[in-house]
Amino acid sequence: MKQTDINYMEKVTLETIRQKKSKGEKIIMLTAYDFSTARILDDMDIDIVLVGDSLGMVFLGYENTLPVTIDEMIYHTKAVARAIKKSFLLVDMPFMSYQVSENEAVYNAGKIIKEGNANGVKIEGGAELTGAIKKIINCGIPVCGHIGMTPQHINNFSGFKVQGKTKEKTVKLVEDALALQDAGVFGIVIECVPEEVAFFITEKLSIPTIGIGAGKNCSGQVLVINDILGYSNDFKPKFVKKYADLNAGIKTAVSEFISEVRSEKFPDKAHSFHLPDNALPEIQFSHTALQDLKNQN
Ligand code: KIV
Repeated sequence: MKQTDINYMEKVTLETIRQKKSKGEKIIMLTAYDFSTARILDDMDIDIVLVGDSLGMVFLGYENTLPVTIDEMIYHTKAVARAIKKSFLLVDMPFMSYQVSENEAVYNAGKIIKEGNANGVKIEGGAELTGAIKKIINCGIPVCGHIGMTPQHINNFSGFKVQGKTKEKTVKLVEDALALQDAGVFGIVIECVPEEVAFFITEKLSIPTIGIGAGKNCSGQVLVINDILGYSNDFKPKFVKKYADLNAGIKTAVSEFISEVRSEKFPDKAHSFHLPDNALPEIQFSHTALQDLKNQN
């Protein structure tokens, strides 16, 4: 088998995801935006690798996810896809790539799959999107829903705020989840809602829910890779658990590099290339001989 061939015995497919839900096995999703990280996640048997539009904030330094373009999503998806052999590769449709018209939504979803080599797309929103979602699914593109604190609606929500805290808002979330399920999504990400609300929705659905800031009762969990690795020490939402402190780790490594370069401890002999023992005198001799020859002429 070639390195790039997909082995469907190992590949996570919609069928694998459905089976996990029916067996009550937690579905694990993490984001990745680059080849090296994706390769580690794929090796670790992560079920779903998400190229989230969070890349706009953690990778490109935008203030929120709104400026992210379809081309930026595809650029990162291509890098991630080169590393993925087993995980299901899910990609966010960025802001305004699916809202203008159903045809545009289908076109952009197709672009992500064809150019990015992804397995499915994720779309933020509820019942209002079911027309576009059905059309995308009819083309053979799996769709994952995303409800609750959907970051692309940050201006409507007046910031990153927990959603579904009132009876009306909870009812709306449940209705949206059921409408998305009826439209054919294979799963729904539920972001930043009270644990009880996410549990209620999960119980109502036959498809899996993937929680982020939605408590432990969802069918699976997702977090942004940069957050769990502790890349930043000034972004600490309540729902993020840091499993590493790469901010400190990177700073320690970089400051050791700086000091070893300044003190000429690096590069040492082991990290340098060397000529064979007798080569240098020979080069010096040849160089001098050449100079003499030139001087004579
Ligand atoms: O953009 C993203 O990374 C996401 C996850 C946080 C669910 O949508």
